Amino acid sequence: MTSGQRPGGPAPEAGGLPLLGNVVDFRRDILDALHQGWQAHGDLVRYRLGTVVVHGVSSPELAGEVLTDSATYGKLGPDNPLRLILGEGLLTSDDHESWMRNRRMMQPIYSKQALSGMYRAMVDSVAEQLTHMARAYPSGAEVDVHGEMMRVTLDIVSRCMFSTDVSRTRDKLSPEAVDVAVNYAFDRLQNPFSPPTAWPTPRNRRFQRVMAGLDGMMYGLIEERRAAGVPEGGANDLLDMLLAARDADTGEGMTDRELRDEIITTFAAGHETTAVTLTWAFYLLSQHRQVLRRAQEEVDRELGDRMPDVEDLQRMPYLLQIFEEALRMYPSAPIVPRLTLKDTVLGGHHVPKGSRIMVDLFNIHRHPDHWDDPERFDPDHFTAARRKGRYRFAYLPFGAGPHLCIGKHFALLEAHLLLAALIRRYDFRHIPSHRVVNHATITLRPKYGMAMTLHERHRARRTAAVPATAGTPTD
Ligand code: HEM
Repeated sequence: MTSGQRPGGPAPEAGGLPLLGNVVDFRRDILDALHQGWQAHGDLVRYRLGTVVVHGVSSPELAGEVLTDSATYGKLGPDNPLRLILGEGLLTSDDHESWMRNRRMMQPIYSKQALSGMYRAMVDSVAEQLTHMARAYPSGAEVDVHGEMMRVTLDIVSRCMFSTDVSRTRDKLSPEAVDVAVNYAFDRLQNPFSPPTAWPTPRNRRFQRVMAGLDGMMYGLIEERRAAGVPEGGANDLLDMLLAARDADTGEGMTDRELRDEIITTFAAGHETTAVTLTWAFYLLSQHRQVLRRAQEEVDRELGDRMPDVEDLQRMPYLLQIFEEALRMYPSAPIVPRLTLKDTVLGGHHVPKGSRIMVDLFNIHRHPDHWDDPERFDPDHFTAARRKGRYRFAYLPFGAGPHLCIGKHFALLEAHLLLAALIRRYDFRHIPSHRVVNHATITLRPKYGMAMTLHERHRARRTAAVPATAGTPTD
């Protein structure tokens, strides 16, 4: 899609109210506002939130330009409300030097190889989730699948981060606490008229209480672990690995503040994103029974009655294609934000220094120049051949360029495992009277949760799903 605006001039503007600009539309439904702007004005559209200028980017080509040029398109600055939670961790740091130093230190921790050491914790968590679901829901019972996916992904990241200390972190890092914090920050992100954080409003006070609890717990744990030193036999979990990480040039590790910021960033970035995509995947499967049957055949053929080990997962590529297709249709981090650090030209249009850029993955993943039949759920969009022929920035669920998601392999591994374990055990059916509406906060959630009934498959054969060791027979 192209705009009809003159080259070198500003991008076409979406209109809006005097003073407020597009604040009301963005607060009502930011993805819908950006989608309408795209349809009406093209791949680059200018919006206003009060005095803040925002550019919506909806084409793979322009997204590639923005995400690979961090000298022109930086992270949001110190006024980024997410900083109230995440401090200056990888996701929110706007200081390129310190970001690069920490990214280099952390990259090996999230490599495919290092993750295989964490697989056991993931399997334990999934096994516990299956036990919990078997107890809580008799076959055919109604379940909020979104709530269950949030529960298990939070548990996975907690076990991988804190191993034996995990139970101590549960109340301060509960789904409810995370929700209060994330909603608070997101609201401030799209509403420049929010009351100052120092005002004693009930909402400000609730947020401060949650953060004080979280920080107290986090600094306490860091102090204890520092005192204990790295355990014999090497690091047990992500926290040990972060404590042991050293800058290759100076030999220095992270300060307590840096550790706190990176740990909270991992939680914020690393559980809900996977949980919502799994939720959408189960919903899509319930609407496309032939895809579900193919997935069930793959699981039954490759897994029988076992929990999968990493090699089993490699023999189940269709499951991964399902997850990738769910991420295409419902990218769980749908908007990647940037700030122009200088005046620039994008798509032939002048974009002034200080403009916020919103790279819109929801629109990009449906761009008609790059996707056939984009509204159709078709995991075969991700066969090896079709993947190979695709323009590299047409599919960006994990971002691109230097800030590419550091947890991509972690997310794919846990999602693959969860899909295998849950599809093997249950048939998911959506309750038709339940309304499915997507709603973008920082993640793309189902606004009213996801009410489904769960029906046990292979009932007669199953006794228990808790494996003695990862990959050993359970039944
Ligand atoms: C389906 C799951 C996930 C999705 C869709 C996702 C998406 C993204 C995206 C789009 C970015 C780029 C942000 C930007 O360029 O500004 C990003 C960055 C990041 N993600 Fe993920 N993510 C997922 C899972 C995870 C997990 C499991 C972790 C950690 C265990 C994680 C940690 C991070 C961090 C730390 C960054 C910042 C990287 C940097 O700027 O250097 N993410 N993620």
